[in-house]
Amino acid sequence: MSSLEGKVIIITGGAGGIGEATARMAHTRGASVVITDLEAGPVEAIAASLGERALGLKVDVSSREDNQKMVAAAVKAFGRVDAVFLNAGIEGQVGPFDSRSDQAWQSVFNVNVHGVRFGVEAALPALREAGGGSIVITSSIAGVRGAAGLSPYVSSKHAVVGMMRCLAAELGPENIRVNTLNPGPVDNRMMRSIEDQANPGHGEEVQAMFTSRIPLGRYVTNDECAAMACLLFSNDAAGFNGNCYMVDGGYCAQ
Ligand SMILES: NC(=O)c1ccc[n+]([C@@H]2O[C@H](COP(=O)([O-])OP(=O)(O)OC[C@H]3O[C@@H](n4cnc5c(N)ncnc54)[C@H](O)[C@@H]3O)[C@@H](O)[C@H]2O)c1
Repeated sequence: MSSLEGKVIIITGGAGGIGEATARMAHTRGASVVITDLEAGPVEAIAASLGERALGLKVDVSSREDNQKMVAAAVKAFGRVDAVFLNAGIEGQVGPFDSRSDQAWQSVFNVNVHGVRFGVEAALPALREAGGGSIVITSSIAGVRGAAGLSPYVSSKHAVVGMMRCLAAELGPENIRVNTLNPGPVDNRMMRSIEDQANPGHGEEVQAMFTSRIPLGRYVTNDECAAMACLLFSNDAAGFNGNCYMVDGGYCAQ
């Protein structure tokens, strides 16, 4: 198990799912965590349940100003930033390519792509000040594969893989590592939403279809994704830069 003792880690989309699991795991492994999401209440409650070394903060990642406030709050509370987990994301609406409105594309890109961009821009001065660090972006199997009906989401998750590769090339010389976490279907809220939208009232049929494509025969868990994120934050991953790290039960193996 990789130690995160003494590290300061910012997490977006931390109110539930992968983000909350990662905040809790990172904290258990010794990190100070700044847990952020759209509403203050849930992340403040998670931080309170962790006690020392945890701060909950309301942050809309699609706002450049909120991202800057997030990093400033982390530095103020804990003195430095060693890692950022740019994890907030939305699935958007499921439907055929030519039925997607401009607004549907924009809302997904504002969070999933520009939210990541603003997070990186805001964090860079603090990571440089710390002498290096780790940026982990939550992409998806949808960042390396297509999926019928999910064009804005899939396009956004491919976009952040491209962003990660450019950043890894640019920031490697500064000892700032950049990677993506690419989960397969996770047994959580987002997949329930995608399943129910794909086949309203019969989401379990969509779940069975996805499960049939996963060699492990099940969805992965929030904690299994958190374990990869925590590895990528840690010094054990000192040589990991510029790659996609799949946690997909083998989905992309075939
Ligand atoms: N669930 C899956 O099967 C799956 C698979 C692959 C990738 N992912 C990705 O994992 C990440 C985490 O999702 P999750 O599965 O934990 O689902 P989730 O919906 O529980 O978590 C996403 C979080 O992001 C927050 N969020 C949404 N818009 C935001 C904004 N503008 N500013 C700040 N926070 C915002 C939500 O409030 C939510 O807490 C997402 O990027 C998602 O696309 C999920």
